[in-house]
Amino acid sequence: MSTAATATPPTGIASIGLHLPPLSMPVTELAPLRGQDPMKYTHGLGCETMSLCPPDYGVVELATEAARRAIARWGGDTERIGMLAVGTETAVDMSRPLSAWVADRLGLKGAVRSYEVKHACYGGTLALRQAAEWRLSGAAQDQAALVVAADVALYEPGDPGEPTQGAGAVAMVIDEPRVASIDPVSYAWSEPEFDFWRPIGDSYPSVDGALSLDCYKRAAENCFKALVGKRNPEEVLSELAAICFHVPFPKMVRKAVDQIGEFFGFGAERIEQLYADKVSPTMVWNRLCGNAYTASLWISVANALEGLAVGQRVAAFSYGSGFGAELLMLESGTEASAGIWAKDIEADLTAREQLDGAAYTRLRAQDDGKTILAEEIGLDVATSRFGKASSR
Ligand code: HMG
Repeated sequence: MSTAATATPPTGIASIGLHLPPLSMPVTELAPLRGQDPMKYTHGLGCETMSLCPPDYGVVELATEAARRAIARWGGDTERIGMLAVGTETAVDMSRPLSAWVADRLGLKGAVRSYEVKHACYGGTLALRQAAEWRLSGAAQDQAALVVAADVALYEPGDPGEPTQGAGAVAMVIDEPRVASIDPVSYAWSEPEFDFWRPIGDSYPSVDGALSLDCYKRAAENCFKALVGKRNPEEVLSELAAICFHVPFPKMVRKAVDQIGEFFGFGAERIEQLYADKVSPTMVWNRLCGNAYTASLWISVANALEGLAVGQRVAAFSYGSGFGAELLMLESGTEASAGIWAKDIEADLTAREQLDGAAYTRLRAQDDGKTILAEEIGLDVATSRFGKASSR
């Protein structure tokens, strides 16, 4: 075997592209529709604005646009992309991977390993780990990988999860670590549970809300416990510029930080300070977007990396129901300080249209109507003109 095949190339995130859909609605507009005090959504859950998709817009559009932006910023030859891994739980087909739709629109084909990764919100992180490990193993032979995390998170109207809805996509080219390197070692934790699931054919997820909170907190505690090992937790945390979490809703993250802090024996004041200094600031974009499932953690990571000097460390905690979790460690590269990908969010936020409660009600009625109509007339929802509705 040649040394070229086994050498470990420098590996990490070479570029980031983000994309949010064209519609949004503040959760304060949803509260009166559901007979709730808006404070429950804003203070109780920490939510602010939901990203929403119009009827002709779905996960394919989100994933493709984020990928286009990441590739343009990377500036490399697309012939060097040897892997396209798309993490999603908004699958448009039980067989054909979402990556095929993305590859089709980007014109990527040939010597490319192209596939979809599913593990609830953890799927994007798994895709990223596989891409990084593929390069670190030497098997990539210096090819780059395109990783996309994209989802549309919708709950049944009236479901307690409705104010946490959102949508978005993050794409990352895994190549030279210009934006951030990814530590080869990470800390995983999984337990088989039914905390949040979507049986085949169901348009919306089923959730055991209280159980999902417990699972998330238990996973976070175990991953951070593994990270700290026998070291002093304060020493380990002091090495981190930011701590990013999967953000189903911001209050969930706060609860996880409480749990981790209590495990390490911190008092309430210290936990508050940790959250305020290293965690809460990373969720600025998440608050404007809502839960974007696989993309949520990476939206937070993209935000945290923006503006960092070279060599600063960021922790990234991924959680996917079912459940699986993993804590990754990243280190900022030379292009983090410029944080050029922030322009994606700025542009999408400026362009998006804000709905009021009445427009949202019409949008949801349209969605449900389309799914029912497609089923009634036996249309293949993945390929029909109703396909976008099914692709959420
Ligand atoms: P709920 O029925 O709204 O819960 O559902 P609640 O009644 O417990 O209220 C929530 C909070 O609002 C509570 O705060 C209330 O006190 C507070 P807490 O006690 O927990 O701190 N509250 C108020 N605050 C101020 N003013 C008021 C007021 N009234 C009440 N007037 C639940 C909440 C999270 C269960 C629901 O939103 C849900 O089912 N969400 C979806 C599941 C979820 O996000 N789980 C998170 C962990 S699992 C995960 O992250 C994976 C996921 O992303 C999917 C995947 O992996 O694919 C979801």
